[in-house]
Amino acid sequence: MTGASSGIGWHLARLLARQGVRLVVNARRSDRLTELAETISGEGGTCLTYPGDITQPEVRRGLLEQCTGELGGVDILINNAGIGAMGRFEEADEQRMRQIFEVNFFAVAEMTRIAIPALKQGEDPLVVNISSVLGHRAAPLKSEYCASKFALHGLSDSLRAELAPVGIELLLVSPSTTDSDFFDHSIEDTTGKDWKKGGAMSAEKVAAKTVRGMTKRRHEIILTFGGRIIVWLDRLLPGIANKLVARFGQ
Ligand SMILES: NC(=O)c1ccc[n+]([C@@H]2O[C@H](COP(=O)([O-])OP(=O)(O)OC[C@H]3O[C@@H](n4cnc5c(N)ncnc54)[C@H](OP(=O)(O)O)[C@@H]3O)[C@@H](O)[C@H]2O)c1
Repeated sequence: MTGASSGIGWHLARLLARQGVRLVVNARRSDRLTELAETISGEGGTCLTYPGDITQPEVRRGLLEQCTGELGGVDILINNAGIGAMGRFEEADEQRMRQIFEVNFFAVAEMTRIAIPALKQGEDPLVVNISSVLGHRAAPLKSEYCASKFALHGLSDSLRAELAPVGIELLLVSPSTTDSDFFDHSIEDTTGKDWKKGGAMSAEKVAAKTVRGMTKRRHEIILTFGGRIIVWLDRLLPGIANKLVARFGQ
């Protein structure tokens, strides 16, 4: 699993370990991963760490080798690592778009590509991609993030169909605003807005709903009632959705 050093990934790791899943976790902050592994092992679980920047090919290869070498294979790949930025598109530079896509899209795509041979040998193999409601309905001031999660949505739909004949399933998880360190970790925020204002689901609850979706072998879950309303409004009445998002989204 990627992105396990905080927020959703941290709780997801703990919940899965309690169900007997043996984990290898990745993120850049090795001290946080060690803390997670010690916590899980104190609860009787198995959690190995593989720290590093998931945008680097050698880190992705090392993470996979740790799974196959130490645990004997891969049954579940969870692509959770993600970053964002908030601010006007015209005021940002190309680097902001590329940086966000490297983590939220290219790293996920390439991690999945190299894991497919091992997943084919796994037991009830499953890929879990943590996306966002913003990967279904985009909003202003988060153009790069929305674009990256739309790309992830497209990749996930395509791969789900492509991998079904070889027995690998894919779950796309779309949380709404979540109470985590995500906004503090954003690479830039030029808006001055309080993005968590108006209610956010706890990272623990997002993790619990994700585990439920995995257990039920769902293919797509949108985690909040508000998120489902936005997605369906966008599908059924896109003109109204556009006006509402432009009026209230910034
Ligand atoms: N928070 C929200 O409102 C929200 C809403 C919808 C969807 N999501 C999605 O949920 C996922 C988890 O986010 P979160 O809310 O739990 O935020 P978070 O606490 O900031 O977690 C993000 C995780 O990604 C890791 N990460 C970031 N860049 C990385 C890199 N280059 N290499 C390896 N790991 C990296 C971070 O660890 P290090 O910093 O240690 O590397 C951290 O463990 C993301 O995909 C996010 O897009 C979040």
